[in-house]
Amino acid sequence: MALWWRRCCFSRAPAFGSLRSLLEAEGPRLGSGSRAGRAVGGAEMHYFLGRSTVLSFPKIRSIFLRFHHTTTSRTCSCSKTVTDEKFKDPFKLGRKDLKNLYEDIKKELLVSTAELREMCEYYFDGKGKAFRPMIVVLMARACNIHHNNSGEVQASQRSVAIIAEMIHTASLVHDDVIDDANSRRGKMTVNQIWGERKAVLAGDFILSAASVALARIGNTTIISVLSQVIEDLVRGEFLQLGSKENENERFAHYLEKTFKKTASLIANSCKAVCFHTRLP
Ligand code: FPP
Ligand code: MG
Repeated sequence: MALWWRRCCFSRAPAFGSLRSLLEAEGPRLGSGSRAGRAVGGAEMHYFLGRSTVLSFPKIRSIFLRFHHTTTSRTCSCSKTVTDEKFKDPFKLGRKDLKNLYEDIKKELLVSTAELREMCEYYFDGKGKAFRPMIVVLMARACNIHHNNSGEVQASQRSVAIIAEMIHTASLVHDDVIDDANSRRGKMTVNQIWGERKAVLAGDFILSAASVALARIGNTTIISVLSQVIEDLVRGEFLQLGSKENENERFAHYLEKTFKKTASLIANSCKAVCFHTRLP
């Protein structure tokens, strides 16, 4: 998975190129959260690209530098290659695939209780960057070009993007309860407005709606890949509650926590859209 992922990011095909620039722009911020140091962002990004290769900080640093060295010289196996310059803004390439993203998410949240509906819809206000869905549709496009020579994202691949955003949001609702946070994305948190008990239930509801949407795709491999994300999120959050005495162990622990809390969702959502390209 790690090797495959790195190969994707080195590629010069349009969607892969966009994917790479998107990661380079967002990578250092991913998983940095409120407690983690932003200085380690680069190493974190590298871990995200190839976690099995790194376990200690000096190694990470050298591999990270090597990564930056090699990105410009690699070529892609895809016959349709273009220069990176043409697709500088990945958000432009994936934007049409994500049109009505939040409306479609709200359609998944079939809640009859007005208050629960308001709570569940609270963060799907269209003000987020939709970074995760964007990266998922770019990966879908890249895979489709490689496998079927098709420039379109399939409906089920778009569903994966929607599900990824729903799982992510559910986890944030729960995380704010755990952290007793009072603001997120410039507004009050769900727990701050409605209280902790209702916030936990709202997070549960978003997660259950995501599970229903996942089951609707009807592919057991995709179900298993995305279910792994939920397990990783919980384990990652749990790891964050502990620490290690030794510095190297502490950094390994930090990387493991970060992979599970942040990278797993992105990597496994990208993995999930690749299975669609093998369907007839
Ligand atoms: C933000 O961390 C939190 C996460 C990325 C994941 C939280 C996961 C859980 C609470 C497990 C439950 C999972 C599900 C699917 C319901 P942070 O506090 O470091 O970042 P922040 O500053 O954005 O809050
Ligand atoms: Mg938090």
